[in-house]
Amino acid sequence: MKSSDLKRALAVSVRAAKGAGKMMRANWRSPKKINSQSQHDIKLELDVRCQKEITRILQSSFPDVPVLGEEATTGDVEEQFRWVVDPIDGTVNFTYGIPHACVSVALQGRKKGEFETLVGAVYDPFCDELWTAVRGQRAQLNGRAIRVSSRKQLKEAIVSMGFAKEKSTLAIMLPVMNALIPEVRKIRIMGSAALSMVYVATGRTDIYTEYGVRLWDIAAGGLILECAGGEFWNREVDNTYGYHVIANNGLLRARLEEITGALAISSF
Ligand code: IPD
Repeated sequence: MKSSDLKRALAVSVRAAKGAGKMMRANWRSPKKINSQSQHDIKLELDVRCQKEITRILQSSFPDVPVLGEEATTGDVEEQFRWVVDPIDGTVNFTYGIPHACVSVALQGRKKGEFETLVGAVYDPFCDELWTAVRGQRAQLNGRAIRVSSRKQLKEAIVSMGFAKEKSTLAIMLPVMNALIPEVRKIRIMGSAALSMVYVATGRTDIYTEYGVRLWDIAAGGLILECAGGEFWNREVDNTYGYHVIANNGLLRARLEEITGALAISSF
């Protein structure tokens, strides 16, 4: 894709993320219509409406690029390019009226057969914070360049964790939490994977890890983190776009691996 196309893709990602963000804000304090729920997950009617609005906006500029979304998929998402969209990341927070949720939009393209993220936008409509990145350029928050923290010691680090929707993931992540708590400054479980990634990118936290997170939760945030000097590594854990992700400021990996090495998780 030419750089002018990437610029256009970023502009339309921002428009789509802000469009859905506006809908989230407008509905924040209203009763929410739940389409379905399980013990650790909720799906709202608004998720679907936001997804439709995002798809409409993206496809008005890029009609041929398919959309892989948490709530709906259009076209063949295994082609050369695809949008990867989470219309409301942090749906449980949002449903309960907790203003910590966002919209995540990424454009991915294939390089040597594998998908990589080319453009990412994450929008938090409650704080009016917009993170953006284009591969190869500095990540930005509301138009200003951002950088990960310079904390080198785990004992100073804030670690953000997520517990995905399936009960089986608890058995994997609880021992990780137990191992990390005594070693780090604080653990935070804030309820939005995309915001957890961009908080590391902004230096607000230092590490984020979750087992069973989905591609649409981390695609945009992953690029933003890398373009802010951080790193993440992930391992596909199922064939429904599920990943085990470990993100950090680029300085804490060795110690992280040491601490968690005793745990039987192959990607640590
Ligand atoms: C969820 C949130 C949550 C994370 C889950 C995600 P959703 O996304 O990001 O923090 O722990 O793994 O599925 O369902 O609100 O879009």
